[in-house]
Amino acid sequence: MNFKETMLRSAETRKSRVVLALDFSDPYEQRLARAERVLKATKGGIAAVKVNHHLLLPYGLRGMGSLIETCKREELPLIADLKMNDIESTNLNIVDSLLAFGFDAVTANPFVGWEEGLGRVVERVHSKDGGIIFLVYMSHKGATEGYSLRVEDGEPLYRKFAKRAKDWGADGVVVSAKSLDKIAETREIVGKGCLIFSPGIGAQGGDVRADVAPTADFIIVGRSVTEAPDPSKILKALNGK
Ligand code: XMP
Repeated sequence: MNFKETMLRSAETRKSRVVLALDFSDPYEQRLARAERVLKATKGGIAAVKVNHHLLLPYGLRGMGSLIETCKREELPLIADLKMNDIESTNLNIVDSLLAFGFDAVTANPFVGWEEGLGRVVERVHSKDGGIIFLVYMSHKGATEGYSLRVEDGEPLYRKFAKRAKDWGADGVVVSAKSLDKIAETREIVGKGCLIFSPGIGAQGGDVRADVAPTADFIIVGRSVTEAPDPSKILKALNGK
């Protein structure tokens, strides 16, 4: 089963389209244990797990073995949000390591280009049934300063990135939940075959409601769940229960 199929099966089985971002700013030595506690409390109400530098830097792939094991046991797809943005040889090294240690997908910045950038990386990831998710439009205020830039034919960069996602065979794209128009535009470009992941909910200002970003396939949610006194209550709202 490839990454897209795994994600859709997980969403269907768990009746959730929430990708939980396990990001913590606790003292380094406490983060993994907290992530495991939060995962234990939320695993029934989420479709997938996403980790970022918050865990990957202090613990590394070896140090995260127990969390990776939990995701495998629970059949929860695991995404590394590294926003890969380097030359091919480094990108290949990143994805080889992630997949070898049990990750299912990685995020990447299509800005880096195809040739000696992401071309062979997409092929490598797919040859191992992994997934690659392209940034199309980010959720922070400064996103307009980069992703909305118009290139010489007048088209904004985010539309170019959405086209790259489709043409280069990305499994998914990230588009801000605070820009519903951009989600709609992206869907028109990428069609149904590419999953739309949408962050920016709750802590970043978006509503915490079941119907947030209705045209996205998945919503990415971190702090509004992980820092809630009762994470399962927020998840219920996000899952429309
Ligand atoms: P919060 O706590 O804001 O966490 O719900 C969101 C998680 O998603 C990441 N994030 C993004 N990732 N494009 C991305 O690829 C974005 O526009 C974006 N906005 C947030 C963030 O780093 C955190 O892990």
